Amino acid sequence: MKISPANRVSKIKPYFFASLEKTLSELRKDGVKVIRLDIGSPDLPPQDFIVDALVEAVHRPDVHGYGPSGGSPALRAAIASYYLDRFDLKLDVDKEVLGLIGSKEGIFNLSQVLINPGDLVLLPDPCYPVYSVGALIAQAETYDMPLLAENSFLPDFDAIPDAVAGRAKLMWLNYPNNPTGAIAPYEFFERAVAFARKHEIVIAHDAPYVDICFDHYKAPSILQVPGAKEVAVEFNSLSKTYNMAGWRVGMALGNPEIIRLLRMYKSQQDSSLFIPLMVAAESALLGDQSWIETRNQVYQDRRDVVVSTLLDLGFTMEIPKASIYVWAKLPEPWTDSVAFCDTLLREAGVSITPGVVYGPSGAGYVRISLVTPLEQLSEAMARMRIWMDKEK
Ligand SMILES: Cc1ncc(COP(=O)(O)O)c(C=O)c1O
Repeated sequence: MKISPANRVSKIKPYFFASLEKTLSELRKDGVKVIRLDIGSPDLPPQDFIVDALVEAVHRPDVHGYGPSGGSPALRAAIASYYLDRFDLKLDVDKEVLGLIGSKEGIFNLSQVLINPGDLVLLPDPCYPVYSVGALIAQAETYDMPLLAENSFLPDFDAIPDAVAGRAKLMWLNYPNNPTGAIAPYEFFERAVAFARKHEIVIAHDAPYVDICFDHYKAPSILQVPGAKEVAVEFNSLSKTYNMAGWRVGMALGNPEIIRLLRMYKSQQDSSLFIPLMVAAESALLGDQSWIETRNQVYQDRRDVVVSTLLDLGFTMEIPKASIYVWAKLPEPWTDSVAFCDTLLREAGVSITPGVVYGPSGAGYVRISLVTPLEQLSEAMARMRIWMDKEK
């Protein structure tokens, strides 16, 4: 029997990192010791008190069944308390806060609850691929908002034709940004909210890097803008802030109607987070936060090594003030980031991500992740330098 996929699924390509795995395992078989600077999964562990909370909770006999879909009241209260402390923002625990099985789940599902076939979705280009795949599955039309160096990698709302803005139903934003490492000033969020209110567009702001900041910078939440909750939902996550990517704890916050729809959809589509994970997440959100600054210094030191090497090698870039990525434009004569990354991987054993994976405006750029210990990162930079000198 021939199995044929649904039309909407047949349009999806495998996730870039799934296909990269294949090349990496071939190279490993050939004995190449690849240093991976491609994926954005934190290498550092969560704090001991968070792990201890998980272990203690998992020993309880009453935590192994299904929990409440959309997060326990205690988890949602902990999320609200974190938003109050961090952003001085009050959220209604029942109506404006939702627990997610990682933010990727909610990001994907948002398109399913809001978008009809043919609805228009505004996407940053480049962007985290899940925004566009979620839109694709919902059979949306999409409009790219280029993130360009000359605009500090912020979308230019004035460049969006009125006819497009008038038709758009949903707009994705993401600051601190993956893949560009760019940040958005609070005034940008004010402009975004005004634009969305004028054209009646829902804003989905994805903020998993909001607590990974350098050089004393503190990233804002879009929900701090007065009136934002009327048009915006924010996604956030424990994956990067608390080094808990594999634990799958995320959150959606803001507009009560969107939260209600997501909650309802999730009640059909998944079952809850594992209860001990929710208990541990509460301790992460409510416990000591001072270690985050120390951890950010680790990323900052790594950033400095990458930036200084790349500048030396002729790349152009903004020095990132947040996120776990360096986004750099290839030096001449290189223009094709896929060919560059592939050759670098095969000849020098260093894996970085071609910018074009994140959208057409990523052509000519590469993304380097900072989730590798300094010693290995320095080794990768040394390999890259030797390889590029040879290529000249
Ligand atoms: C911009 C962005 N949003 C969301 C996610 C997903 O995070 P989570 O682990 O919460 O699903 C990532 C992960 O890399 C990301 O880069």
